[in-house]
Amino acid sequence: MSDQSFQGVDYYKCKVSCFGRNVMVYVYWVGGMLVDSGPPRLRREIDEFCSSRRLDRIVHTHYHEDHTGNSRYLAKRYNVPVFIDPFSIEYCRERARLPLYRRVYWGRREGFEPLPLPETFETGKTRWEVIPTPGHSEDHVSFLDQNEGRVFTGDLFMRDKTLVIMRSENLPALIESLRRLLARDFDTVFCSHSGVIKNGRQRIQRKLEYLEEQRGRVRHLHSLGLTAREINRRMYPKQPPIFFFSGGEYSTCHIVRSFIEDEP
Ligand SMILES: [Fe+2]
Repeated sequence: MSDQSFQGVDYYKCKVSCFGRNVMVYVYWVGGMLVDSGPPRLRREIDEFCSSRRLDRIVHTHYHEDHTGNSRYLAKRYNVPVFIDPFSIEYCRERARLPLYRRVYWGRREGFEPLPLPETFETGKTRWEVIPTPGHSEDHVSFLDQNEGRVFTGDLFMRDKTLVIMRSENLPALIESLRRLLARDFDTVFCSHSGVIKNGRQRIQRKLEYLEEQRGRVRHLHSLGLTAREINRRMYPKQPPIFFFSGGEYSTCHIVRSFIEDEP
């Protein structure tokens, strides 16, 4: 666990280990704004991170419990407004109903009272644009400061190669989101699980190319008459461990299914 800073952005980072899997978590602060509130199991540490900084607002990239887990607690403790995409306001008002493995992994996400994110907002002299970047989740957004070339991407990027996804993810939408972001000016990506990526534009470009290549392979095999199950077996012969402890909520077969079913 540690606090660091880059390009005026302070960040808290921590490795979360569970079920033999390690996931890094990054929570960012810039100019009084907290970007996502982190998972409930890191409440004490994130509270400590916030307590030595001025807090004016909490903004969310999306509703997942590892991004909204401390919003109720921090909003009360620091008396600050909390914002999220209008799509998930209702969902966030209630305590999240999560499968057991996610409750064990991240903790319980209590309900909170978010306000709808505006299209743009300011922190001091910085103007932030809220860029819709759905795909990982329907409500996913990124926060872009074109002047400084900085963007908070939540779970849009995560890693260079997408090797497994959740049932609810939509890869054609994610591809469009990567393209939408690449049409804008930025270099530094602040990712919630990969941290500060200084050559972020290049890495996002590479991820886009990888996903387009995977989409091309799925489409080709599908056009030959293979079923989703057969394509999955051919492209991804082995499921990663998360498949087993998530009861299939994470699976390579969702990659194939999404490229077949979610195409606009
Ligand atoms: Fe997420």
